[in-house]
Amino acid sequence: MTEFSSRILAWYHQNARSLPWRIPPGQALRHPDPYAVWVSEIMLQQTRVETVIPYFQRWMEQFPTVQALAAAPEQTVLNAWEGLGYYSRARNLHKSAKIILGQHNGRLPDTLAALRSLPGIGRYTAAAIASIAFGQDVATLDGNLRRVFSRVFNISQPADSPTGEESLWALAAGHVPPGQAGDYNQALMDLGASICLPKKPPCLLCPLAEICQARALGLQEQRPVLKPKAAVPHKLKLAAVIIRENLVLLAQRPATGLLANLWEFPAAFADEDSALALAAVIETEYGLKINPSKTSLGTFQHAYTHFKLTETAYPSDLLENPAAPNLHWVPLTALDDYPMGKVDRLIARKLT
Ligand code: ADE
Repeated sequence: MTEFSSRILAWYHQNARSLPWRIPPGQALRHPDPYAVWVSEIMLQQTRVETVIPYFQRWMEQFPTVQALAAAPEQTVLNAWEGLGYYSRARNLHKSAKIILGQHNGRLPDTLAALRSLPGIGRYTAAAIASIAFGQDVATLDGNLRRVFSRVFNISQPADSPTGEESLWALAAGHVPPGQAGDYNQALMDLGASICLPKKPPCLLCPLAEICQARALGLQEQRPVLKPKAAVPHKLKLAAVIIRENLVLLAQRPATGLLANLWEFPAAFADEDSALALAAVIETEYGLKINPSKTSLGTFQHAYTHFKLTETAYPSDLLENPAAPNLHWVPLTALDDYPMGKVDRLIARKLT
C-alpha cells in the first residue's frame, strides 16, 4: 500500500461520515446492498450528500428493491425524484431497473462493462458501485477526487482535458489498496467534501498535508487547473396560469430533453416580460388564444446547467378551448401528483 493510501484509509477509519447507504469502514468483506449503493450514487451525481439523504431514505421505503422500482409507474418515480433536478437520472434508474429484471435476474450486475451498459451509469458510477458494493479493486474519479489528486500530485494539466483526466484516473488507480477500494474511494469522497474544499481548504486538518505537493508550493487553491468556461446565457420565459372552475391547464413536456415528461404551466421563451408578449408566444407555441392579466403572480429564477432562467407567470383567461393533445385540465387539489420542475412547482404553490 502506498503512503497516500495508508494515510487516507487511517483518516477514514476515524472520520468516515455515517451515511444511510454505507456500512462503517474497515469491514472489507461486508458490503452494502448493491441496489442501495446504485441509487445513492445516481442521486449523488451533481447533488450534495445533505440534499440526497432524505430523498434516499424516502426512495428506499417507496421502492425497496429493483423489482419494486421496475413495477412503479413513471409518474410515481418522477414524483419521488421531484426537487433533486436532472430528471433523466430518475428515468434512467427506472429504465435500468426493468433491464436488470429482464436481463440480469433482478440483480445488479457486478462487472464494470455490464454496469456501464445500463442507462445513466458512466465510468465514475460503474467504478463506485463495483468497489463499494462488490469489493472490486477499482479506482474511481469524480469532482472531489479530481481535486484531491490534482493537489496532492500537483497536476498542472487541465483536469477537464482528455490528457489531464487520464493522468488523474491513472493516479487514482495506482494507489488502490488491494481489498479496500470501496473504503479508499469513499475516504477520498469524504476528504474532498469536508477538508479538500474548492476554496480556502483547511489544510491543517488534512491527513495528506505533509505529502501534498501543491500545498508545499502554496498552489492548492490553483489546483485543479480547469479550462475557461463559456458564459451561461440568460433566458426569459413567460407562463400562463389558466384556471376554470377548479381546474388548471397543464402541458406535458416532450419525452426527450430538459425536464422530459414533466408537467408545466403553458409557457414559452420571450424577448420581453409583458402580458402582451405572453399572449403572442402562447398563441405561437400552443395555438391557444389567451387574455393575460396585466398583473403577474410572480417572477421566479432558476439556474440550469446550460442557461439561467427568469420566468414570470400571469393569470390568464382562455378565449377558446384547447385542442393540443399534451394539454390537460388538472384539479387544483391534484397538482402535487403531477411531477414538475422547480419553477413550475413554485407557481403551483401560489395557487393552493
Ligand atoms: N459522493 C458520491 N458518492 C459518495 C459516497 N458513496 N459517499 C460520500 N459521498 C459521495
